[in-house]
Amino acid sequence: MKKEINGKTKIIGIIGKNIENSLSPLIHNQIILKHSLNFCYLPFQVAETDLCKVIQGIKALNIRGVNITFPYKEKAIKFLDEVEESARRIGAVNTIVNNKGALTGYNTDVIGFKKSLQEDGKFVIKEKKAVILGAGGAARAVVYALLEEGIKEICIFNRTLEKAKKIKQDLSSFFPKSRIIVFPLEEEDLKDKIEKAHLLVNTTSIGMAPRVDNTPLPDEKLFHPNLLVYDLIYHPAKTLFLKQAERAGAKIINGLPMLVYQGMESFYLWTGFKPEGEEVLEMIEKITQIA
Ligand code: ATR
Repeated sequence: MKKEINGKTKIIGIIGKNIENSLSPLIHNQIILKHSLNFCYLPFQVAETDLCKVIQGIKALNIRGVNITFPYKEKAIKFLDEVEESARRIGAVNTIVNNKGALTGYNTDVIGFKKSLQEDGKFVIKEKKAVILGAGGAARAVVYALLEEGIKEICIFNRTLEKAKKIKQDLSSFFPKSRIIVFPLEEEDLKDKIEKAHLLVNTTSIGMAPRVDNTPLPDEKLFHPNLLVYDLIYHPAKTLFLKQAERAGAKIINGLPMLVYQGMESFYLWTGFKPEGEEVLEMIEKITQIA
């Protein structure tokens, strides 16, 4: 949102099913305002039956690009002209760029997760062990990021075991040095694997507002002080999962840094302008009171 929208303003935005609470319009329009760029970022609430038409519409309306969010990150792929290699392997896109009528899909969640882990968590991924809760689209990007950085072992726990198996099947052959093990979400295996882990990531929606009394772990005694505990949720800023982890002496990190950093990568793909992630994160923390 430049001060004035004019005939040259380029449109970017977000496509999703329930996006009223998305922070992305705020984040992107704040950057646009701060740097006086002639772009405008809009929310597009879209029904699944319209997804094909809407993605075709990006070309028809000459929209520069969009973020794709829940639940369309996987479904959008088949409507694109090209998909960047890591996004294809992951099987999910969170960004579409329109280059003169050709739509290319990217997954900037990978770089967003890595950057938040390294810069906000001060975590070195190589040779570490991680436990991942959940096996949806977000988990796929997280697992891929960890594999790319040479993690030693990833244990994926999911209610639906088949989905965890599918991640292993899709990704393990690209990273033969790392081990992926899958489990149903049950306490006994969780205890054993979390005890030996350095990193524990919640990629499920359990604990997200308004159901803030829920947590994906069956027992808070499973946390320990040598863990970095990461929750992809940012609303609330501190989920019950993170509160319990903090009480156990673990270092914690919420989903806001990843949201901001993946957004900055997408913004760069559309505009060629790369805002300083840390600066944007600080600005958004101030506006939203999420920290
Ligand atoms: P996203 O793209 O955000 O990852 P998703 O693909 O719907 O969203 O994945 C959500 C994840 O949260 C899944 O792993 C889901 O488990 P299932 O694969 O069994 O559906 C998990 N999840 C959501 N609600 C859950 C609940 N109440 N109990 C256990 N797992 C849950």
